[in-house]
Amino acid sequence: MNTTRNNASYWNPEVETLSRTALEQLQRERLLETLRRAAQAPFYRNSLGPEPWRRIHSLDDIRRLPVTTKDDLRAAYPYGFLCVPKDRLIRLHVSSGTTGQATAVFYTQKDVDAWADLMARCLYMTGARPGDVFQNLSGYGLFTGGLGFHYGAERLGLLTIPAGAGNSKRQIQLMRDFSTTVMHIIPSYALRLMDVMAEMGVDPKRDLHLRIAYLGAEPYSEEVRRRVEAFYGVSVFNSYGLSEMNGPGVAFECAYQNGLHIWEDAYLVEVLDPKTLEPVPEGTLGELVLTTLSREGMPLIRYRTKDLTRILPGDCPCGRVHRRLDRIQGRSDDMFILKGVNIFPIQVEQVLMGIPEVGNNYRIVLDRHDNVDVMTVEVEVTDKIFVEDMRQLQRLQKKITKELKSELLVTPEVRLVEPHGLPRNEGKAVRLMDRRNPYGA
Ligand code: COA
Ligand code: AMP
Ligand code: ZN
Repeated sequence: MNTTRNNASYWNPEVETLSRTALEQLQRERLLETLRRAAQAPFYRNSLGPEPWRRIHSLDDIRRLPVTTKDDLRAAYPYGFLCVPKDRLIRLHVSSGTTGQATAVFYTQKDVDAWADLMARCLYMTGARPGDVFQNLSGYGLFTGGLGFHYGAERLGLLTIPAGAGNSKRQIQLMRDFSTTVMHIIPSYALRLMDVMAEMGVDPKRDLHLRIAYLGAEPYSEEVRRRVEAFYGVSVFNSYGLSEMNGPGVAFECAYQNGLHIWEDAYLVEVLDPKTLEPVPEGTLGELVLTTLSREGMPLIRYRTKDLTRILPGDCPCGRVHRRLDRIQGRSDDMFILKGVNIFPIQVEQVLMGIPEVGNNYRIVLDRHDNVDVMTVEVEVTDKIFVEDMRQLQRLQKKITKELKSELLVTPEVRLVEPHGLPRNEGKAVRLMDRRNPYGA
């Protein structure tokens, strides 16, 4: 499977270095096959109309088909996007950041195998090899960063430690005891872990064996990459993916760290103006819209990721034909990510408005204090609350914190404010202040 060519190593040279013409031919064949399969799903049978593949003569004809949105996934929950009988499925994941109905993604055995192979391709591309010890500090369970990386690392033959997120002292102990060389970690956790190491007197460059770190699942800047590289003594590679497209393994940096190769044998890429849904010229910022090309159980056609990025012009010296994405620059909706968990402000609103003691005004403030991301939810109470009754206020604060944690999966700081205590804006209320500068300068 893996060979060395022109001094560059490829996991799967046939698909990584084929010519542009051959890649587009492969994409066309896979698109037609995908459309035939998608037509089996109740949702697409309706939205794509009869025999949609007959409308596709070239790859550009994809634009004749409607886009798919997260709302479509929600509306068809749970099984409306399935193209195979349920007994062919072996896995499901559910993405965080669900407003109302969750979005679930299903995998057949072939899908799980193909995903593991894509992930192995990513890890191999960065120089990970059998003999490396891989510690996965991503959340497991329904998060795709856990099992997604895990299966890829095992496929590649790495000794894989399914450490999961949190429990920092034990993470460091594991790194020490087993001489971890490669880690996958959420950027905000990589920052937090620096402080824990400093408190424990651990200097990673002196005491550990780390050499590679994969950072993804949330936006981060070049500055954060440089800090993480300098502190841990590692090369940091950006990892991009989303649950709807399997999870991680959609786009990944190679040894040149100059943008993320998006695997075009598995995903058909469009970058569109989020307002008009017309394609933007290469190199221009737009919304990434993806069509799966090899998924069996649940193909998605023209899925709007809501992530803003651009295609980087030019070839990569590594010799891979797959084009490169710039790091994610923002979102075309109001979703934000805290500690690797997706959150929509409306989720906060729904929780707050269900609590009778809460007034009509609230604000979400996101900060990074001493390497820890903090979400403060400032909540006006109703004038029926007696603001001098400390016990009553504490009970209310605890209740709001508990309900928000249960809905969002992360723990917020809740600050109660007296009626009309929050600033009013002219026009539309500004509910979210993100002071972390998550996408960098
Ligand atoms: N940022 C900061 N702390 C993190 C973290 C992150 N991204 N990820 C894990 N932690 C650690 C904390 O350091 C703490 O461990 P410690 O006390 O041993 O040092 C522990 O998680 C809990 O921290 P807390 O601040 O109480 O967390 P929370 O209740 O706000 O959130 C998490 C709980 C961190 C476990 C939750 O946010 C999570 O599961 N994140 C991972 C999401 C993920 O894997 N996404 C990948 C998607 S593919
Ligand atoms: P999930 O479906 O929970 O895996 O979340 C996917 C979302 O996380 C994407 O749509 C992006 O908004 C964000 N994301 C994932 N990887 C990155 C990355 N490397 N840089 C910036 N954002 C990312
Ligand atoms: Zn490259």
